Amino acid sequence: MNPHNGMYIGGAWRPAATGDTIEVVDPVTEEVIAEVPAGTAEDIDAAVRAARAALPGWASTPPAARAAGIAALRDVLAARADTIAATITAELGAPPALARQVHAGLPVTIAGSYAELAAGFAFEERVGNSTVLLEPVGVVAAITPWNYPLHQVVAKVAPALAAGCTVVVKPAENTPLTAQRFAEAVHEAGLPAGVVNVVTGTGPVAGAALAAHDGVDLVSFTGSTAVGRQIGALAGGAVKRVALELGGKSANVILPGADLARAVTTGVARVMFNSGQSCNAWSRMLVHRERYEEAVRLAAGAAAGHPPGEGIGPLVSARQRDRVRGLIEQGIAEGARLVTGGPEAPREKGYYVSPTVFADVTPGMTIAQEEIFGPVVAVLPYEDTEDALRIANDTVYGLAGAVWAADEAEAVAFARRMETGQVDINGGRFNPLAPFGGYKQSGVGRELGEHGLREYLQTKSLQF
Ligand code: NAI
Ligand code: MG
Repeated sequence: MNPHNGMYIGGAWRPAATGDTIEVVDPVTEEVIAEVPAGTAEDIDAAVRAARAALPGWASTPPAARAAGIAALRDVLAARADTIAATITAELGAPPALARQVHAGLPVTIAGSYAELAAGFAFEERVGNSTVLLEPVGVVAAITPWNYPLHQVVAKVAPALAAGCTVVVKPAENTPLTAQRFAEAVHEAGLPAGVVNVVTGTGPVAGAALAAHDGVDLVSFTGSTAVGRQIGALAGGAVKRVALELGGKSANVILPGADLARAVTTGVARVMFNSGQSCNAWSRMLVHRERYEEAVRLAAGAAAGHPPGEGIGPLVSARQRDRVRGLIEQGIAEGARLVTGGPEAPREKGYYVSPTVFADVTPGMTIAQEEIFGPVVAVLPYEDTEDALRIANDTVYGLAGAVWAADEAEAVAFARRMETGQVDINGGRFNPLAPFGGYKQSGVGRELGEHGLREYLQTKSLQF
């Protein structure tokens, strides 16, 4: 699965500085399927130098030509979607249909959106007697997680390229093969050498070296809050731009008059999606006391519609599986009612976790506060709308959420009072151009669409 015993730096595959490697494991078979080089500070330094060397040329490339480069990348990603999907199935365990439609398909859409934005965006504005120039920030460090291995890379690289920045990607150690497929696509698309570089390696070694490197102007990180906090502190100390996309504990608020069956079924599906490994999963379901037991029954039925193995894939690693099982055990220990699922392994092989529904969850419980990152829904009762709002906002996070109501205006009024970056109204569908990012400890900055592009720009005013 891994034809490259090296790093993609300066437009070529180069041997790594040391012989250390990372094993890539298939979470369905639990077998090692490949090894990739474990990059060190030396490899990171070479990649940052290549990105710096390429910066003046790419920054001064006209936006229309940058747009053409991104469009070429989109076309290669589309042409190679089957190979990319197979790689993601192998190292993440995503079922083939999900891998093809979402994991391989969404990045094509996102790359396409930035090809269009780059071509049409006004990189100059007039403000009174000033011309304001929107210029690239410089060299970008993109540190990405494994949950959407290609999307997370493209959601950083495409806007960075549109802005005129150059990039060093340090992908998650669980899913480096997808990042190699991405580097191959960059190469085939004919982007100039050094504009995009990919260094595989561990977080504490390669990731930390990249985040701390003097030659990096902006660090864009997606992952855990713990690491995000460290990267934010480091960037603050160096007066570097930083974008953080961290965890979530999003509330799915079902108001009294809503279509309960639809709200519950959709809500459960949104948690089971990608085996629960989504930062924007609606992991807390809030239901009015009067319809609570009905909702819990519906949720249990809906969870049964996502059987491990056929419906949903495994978690990415033994470590993530153990973490999720531990949180399920903690939910039971703290007195939540286990309605379906539980900590037992549902299959003999593979890092699977049973779709799990907890009822009688109170806002103070660990399973109501911590991001679980697995197929686990906590159903919480509320007394009235004010109580629902208080519970919805009672979290350090604020990434996503949902509101369901008979009356759309009532749902919107509630959504306005939620402390969160995105809210889907009555099942509103995903919009790849809508700004994505967090309030509170869910992060800093926004990805996707024009808001995502602006993250990679800095402004200069010329007065006349
Ligand atoms: P993580 O935060 O350790 O990994 C994310 C990325 O950061 C990876 O590329 C990793 O190599 C890198 N990294 C790790 N330590 C670093 C350091 N000291 N300096 C620089 N880079 C570093 O996340 P992990 O351990 O894989 O997952 C743990 C939990 O984090 C999950 O259970 C979930 O709750 C959350 N998470 C949230 C994600 C999101 O989309 N916001 C994605 C992945 C995980
Ligand atoms: Mg970690």
